[in-house]
Amino acid sequence: MKLPRLFFGTNLKMYQTASETAAFLGELAQLTADLREEPVVRFVIPSFPSLPAAGAVERNGIRLGAQNMHWENAGQYTGEVSPLMLRDLGCIDLVEIGHSERRQLFGETSQQCNQKVLSALANGFTALLCVGETAAEKYYSISDETLAIQLKVGLADVSPAEIAAGRVWIAYEPVWAIGVNGKPAPPAYVQERHQRLRLLLRELYPGQCCSVPLLYGGSVNSENASAYIGLEDVDGLFVGRAAWNAPAFDALLRQVYAVWKEKGGSGPC
Ligand code: PGA
Repeated sequence: MKLPRLFFGTNLKMYQTASETAAFLGELAQLTADLREEPVVRFVIPSFPSLPAAGAVERNGIRLGAQNMHWENAGQYTGEVSPLMLRDLGCIDLVEIGHSERRQLFGETSQQCNQKVLSALANGFTALLCVGETAAEKYYSISDETLAIQLKVGLADVSPAEIAAGRVWIAYEPVWAIGVNGKPAPPAYVQERHQRLRLLLRELYPGQCCSVPLLYGGSVNSENASAYIGLEDVDGLFVGRAAWNAPAFDALLRQVYAVWKEKGGSGPC
């Protein structure tokens, strides 16, 4: 089961200043310009302070996202960023919600993620909801239960129309696979989790589950990326540190795109 487009992007986390982000994006836009007409969705998610500089760069179709967002339009929430503020920038159309670093290090709950998803959609953004189990949850064999809770709560009250419009993306990122101390997940394990997520989406949104791209992330690199993108239920990759310079992003994307095309990635879902 494949979507008609390949999804490939990176979250810059708390790396790169505004000028570094602009330089990265400018180089990436040039390197990948020829992919603009291909069925490939490229996206970059910089830090908040880098967004204006990133927005000023000629991006050749690369989509820009924010790493987080409060659900209220305004309020007494020191240190938070509202959807109105993001909309006012005029350069982003994607908001990442519930990355495991937000959930693990900053205590974000699935209920809060749900409020953010609903607010992002109401404000015209595409919501990229991240889900993933911890090492302990995997040890106790409750990965699928965790994913089901994160997905069902995260998408509560999201309408079938929003799903059908393709404005919800899901990234499966096992917490234990992310970052320098992460251990890349075995591809067969990833396929099982993605298949379960797809089944859940089918239950929640009969007839529309194919509108939701399922991305995989967690220590993706040039050695394992081809195996992941070759999996039946993986529609794209969400890459961290292996894509933080433009030539590396470009090379990994081209490697993945070649495998995706070879596997018949552009066929009907
Ligand atoms: P990583 O990050 O590829 O550096 O493990 C992935 C992520 O956090 O999305």
